[in-house]
Amino acid sequence: MKNYNISIIKGDGIGPEIVDEAIKVLDAVSYSCGFSLEYKEYLMGGAALDVTGEPLPKETITGVLQSDACLFGAIGGEKWDTLPRDKRPETGLLNFREAMGVYANLRPAIIYDELVNASTLKPEVIEGVDIMVVRELIGGIYFGKPRENDGFKAFNTMVYTKPEIERIGKQAFELAMKRDKRVCSVDKANVLEVSQLWRDTMEEIARDYPEVELSHMYVDNAAMQLVRNPKQFDVIVTGNIFGDILSDTASMVVGSIGLLPSASTGDKTAIYEPIHGSAPDIAGQGIANPIATIESAAMMLRYSLGESLAADKIDSAIKKALKDGYRTKDLAAYDAKEVVTTSEMGDIIANYINK
Ligand code: IPM
Ligand code: MG
Repeated sequence: MKNYNISIIKGDGIGPEIVDEAIKVLDAVSYSCGFSLEYKEYLMGGAALDVTGEPLPKETITGVLQSDACLFGAIGGEKWDTLPRDKRPETGLLNFREAMGVYANLRPAIIYDELVNASTLKPEVIEGVDIMVVRELIGGIYFGKPRENDGFKAFNTMVYTKPEIERIGKQAFELAMKRDKRVCSVDKANVLEVSQLWRDTMEEIARDYPEVELSHMYVDNAAMQLVRNPKQFDVIVTGNIFGDILSDTASMVVGSIGLLPSASTGDKTAIYEPIHGSAPDIAGQGIANPIATIESAAMMLRYSLGESLAADKIDSAIKKALKDGYRTKDLAAYDAKEVVTTSEMGDIIANYINK
């Protein structure tokens, strides 16, 4: 029997609750598909600060690098917000991404038919939306040097090298080949040199993918177009900070931040996590929606372990749970037949795996 080593980082706030439900579903699906998963837990963020005084302990870096893939909950909370920047949970997360070399962050935004009304946009605008935001994750202004804040002057540097743009661009085109074969590259080339290099490089990559249609959009226009007519997009490829902003917008277009997963991939390992945060205000109440994390586990099976049948089973089980009217509290207003707790939702999806 095939066995995979999965590193688990539960994190802070609702992180532990939602990751537990994803593990429940992973156990059900691995049993039914005939492979096994071995989990090892590591600390990060506030949970790590409380125990070790560091947001990203060394054991976490080495442990995750040795695993086949990492399932990640969420980190951060008010308790650690006043720490100096280098101690903050967010700094731990950025250093973690860099250490793992996960340069490509895939953030799908799809609409579940049952939840069309959960979006603030009109149903006819969003029905059928299926966007993949491909965000560069370990470069750009988040990591560029020099950076400084001396109390009078503060600056950061947006920098991309051609190889960095090439590797993220290739990912986007490869994904587009498996989808609707359209890539929209988002930049600010009317103002920024770094964006001009980005745009020129995307044009060069496109020559190797004659079947894929490449378009370019300035980021301000892209933000507007996402809300005006999201169906025009298939794959969006963009840099770190633009992708941070646009992926939040895309998630709200489909109305359900609690449902959307993400994958951060590179050449060494991959990290799978919900796109929502640690929601400390609702932690421990059993009302968090575990679906984004369960769907992240499905992405892990598909992209890192090559177990796409198992991933399909999770997708169908989630759709069935929603179709049958089970909703966690966040979605109670949208055609709920029964409002369930975090762990009940995990049970329902795990049970549907084998049906
Ligand atoms: C995200 C988050 C992070 C980011 C923060 C928490 C550092 O917003 O994953 O989108 O900006 O990348
Ligand atoms: Mg963000």
